[in-house]
Amino acid sequence: MRLLQSETATRDLVVVERVEDLRIEVETARKSDFSIAVVPTMGALHVGHLSLIQTAREECDFVVVTIFVNPEQFGPNEDFNEYPRTLNADLNACRELGVDLVFHPSRKTIYPDDFSTFVEVKGLSDVLEGKCRPGHFRGVTTVVMKLLNLVQPDVAYFGRKDYQQQLLIRNMCRDLNVPVEISVCPTVREPDGLALSSRNRYLSSTQRQSALSLSQCLRLAKNRLLAGETNVSVVRAEMQNLLESAANVRVDYATVAHPETLEELSQPLSSMIALVAARVGKSRLIDNLPIRL
Ligand code: PAJ
Repeated sequence: MRLLQSETATRDLVVVERVEDLRIEVETARKSDFSIAVVPTMGALHVGHLSLIQTAREECDFVVVTIFVNPEQFGPNEDFNEYPRTLNADLNACRELGVDLVFHPSRKTIYPDDFSTFVEVKGLSDVLEGKCRPGHFRGVTTVVMKLLNLVQPDVAYFGRKDYQQQLLIRNMCRDLNVPVEISVCPTVREPDGLALSSRNRYLSSTQRQSALSLSQCLRLAKNRLLAGETNVSVVRAEMQNLLESAANVRVDYATVAHPETLEELSQPLSSMIALVAARVGKSRLIDNLPIRL
């Protein structure tokens, strides 16, 4: 166990790598009757992550941030090895925000050699992101279930930026009676609309310009539906056209769906979700926007 202190810190940040140490720290907090928050992350923290941590800090007494690049949620040809790892900067950010505990386990700690149990949310794991990234959500729900069991928080914080992910996690906790409140925080964007993502750092300046087409196509969908368009297929085609007119963008999906079932809509509903995923250069980016009529 390491105790890290900075000159400017108002609190000490404890960083643990082992399950035993995590349990001791959380147990001590619980004995003090502290409400416990967890913010699961894969590190490379940006302002989007920090907004979750800030909300957790405001709402709970003891804030745990987990940093673990989860191999199980990356496909064989995905960017697990290249995924940014910026532990020192992440710890400094956590310290500045007054995080109490960072759990930064090794791969072996989370997945020992004889690990063989997985959590899968049927149906919702197989559409949209799940269709493009087979096995991805099984990796996400398995690691999140483990983190929830390890920390046993009162509240767990997730971002709406990963819309399908938060939906799956909420459903998993409901189905498996996990005694936790799932709190979903708004998407943090750059001033020009680009949703913050750890993968934005791979973008060249021209690719970054092209990446704006993702948030633009979501706003287009919202504007068209608010203006009274009743054929959602027309809206989908317009989203697709906008994305295809940007340089170096390869669309995975651009659609308007039911906010809970993620079924693609043909007619508008009072509450909908527009979702997009595309590759820009070597970065795969996703974004979404709720639409209420
Ligand atoms: P990661 O991509 O590091 O994201 C951690 C959390 O930050 C997620 O809940 C995500 O939705 C949220 N987040 C990311 N970008 C955001 C933004 N621009 N605005 C608001 N919130 C944002 O998501 C994961 O890690 C992993 O799948 C994880 C849940 C940790 C399981 O491994």
